[in-house]
Amino acid sequence: MEEFHKVRRLPPYVFEQVNRLKASARAAGADIIDLGMGNPDLPTPQSIVDKLCEAVQDPRTHRYSSSKGIPGLRRAQAAYYDRRFGVKLNPDTQVVATLGSKEGFANMAQAITAPGDVVLCPDPTYPIHAFGFIMSGGVIRSIPAKPDDHFIPALERGIRHSIPKPLALILNYPSNPTAHVASLDFYKDVVAFARKNEIIILSDLAYSEIYFDDTPPPSVLQVPGAIDVAVEFTSMSKTFSMPGWRMGFAVGNERLISALTRVKSYLDYGAFTPIQVAAAAALNGDGSDIAEVRNIYKHRRDVLVESFGRAGWEIPAPVATMFAWAPIPEKFRSLGSLEFSKLLIEHADVAVAPGIGFGEHGDDYIRVALVENEHRIRQAARSLKRFLATADEKLHNVIPLNVRG
Ligand SMILES: Cc1ncc(COP(=O)(O)O)c(C=O)c1O
Repeated sequence: MEEFHKVRRLPPYVFEQVNRLKASARAAGADIIDLGMGNPDLPTPQSIVDKLCEAVQDPRTHRYSSSKGIPGLRRAQAAYYDRRFGVKLNPDTQVVATLGSKEGFANMAQAITAPGDVVLCPDPTYPIHAFGFIMSGGVIRSIPAKPDDHFIPALERGIRHSIPKPLALILNYPSNPTAHVASLDFYKDVVAFARKNEIIILSDLAYSEIYFDDTPPPSVLQVPGAIDVAVEFTSMSKTFSMPGWRMGFAVGNERLISALTRVKSYLDYGAFTPIQVAAAAALNGDGSDIAEVRNIYKHRRDVLVESFGRAGWEIPAPVATMFAWAPIPEKFRSLGSLEFSKLLIEHADVAVAPGIGFGEHGDDYIRVALVENEHRIRQAARSLKRFLATADEKLHNVIPLNVRG
């Protein structure tokens, strides 16, 4: 397989190594608490499931659906943007439904990238942000993930030192894995930069509704003029606990939406119509489902930070997303995130995602997903406490001499 050009550019998923270890520990009878993958454990709200069941009774829904999304679904997404962000979108030309936001992002990359095009991409970041473009023949130049004063200067260096000039810039706030959140002022600066330099902005807003502060995360499209350069991706996976349903959206600049719609028209017939009908009903709901999901993650976040802190591992409290981005305890840092994650499975029965899986700048961290209930999170903390208490012994016994710092 390695002889294929495209496959050669895709390294084996780092998370696979942790998954394999997890599977063999489980096969040996261990009760592994899985805080690794960002796979929501909460059931989809019953009213949405009921809507799907109702729609599927109508045989007309069994035919091929519409690749760009049925009109009612696109209208529901436009109404959501209006309500939530005060952003007006034309559902016919500025909204397209996608098979999850991951598919939308990857096919947007495919639609707009010519071989060798440079894309400015955060490191660490959710893998498809970089690999969507790599698979499309693009080249990645890393930029910081943190939305602070160093960000625009890094973009400026990116422009100065890239040939050809970068095609696009990727934003993802609230961020997976770092949980950083961007302000509207930050977006204003980035939009001004992108407009001046004629660079496309692709904003991944998968965590638009998973936030714990009083200020909801903004959309880049709230910035006047952003629609000239930007497309934004949202997802129903986390907002409504619908990860398996594969429903997301791209909205924004007409030229870009039309390019994505064209590519998709060759690839798919859209999600199964009952899924689209149920998704539209969910988006048109009163927001109580969303508030409930948000509240559960918030409580889990609080339990995680408090119980891990008591176990001797101080974790910064994320203000959004379903993840905590935890610095590896000093004593273990030189191991790197993959080895440390393996230790946690083998000696604490806890699975996490190694930061290196999100890029080289993630290697001092691991990502903890809030996908187990509060009881299980506390159980993980107790187990970690025992592990950390015997850290010296573990370091001595487990870590090969050549890796010890
Ligand atoms: C930042 C980010 N974007 C996109 C996705 C993919 O979501 P979807 O299920 O809509 O494809 C995820 C899922 O974890 C994510 O964290």
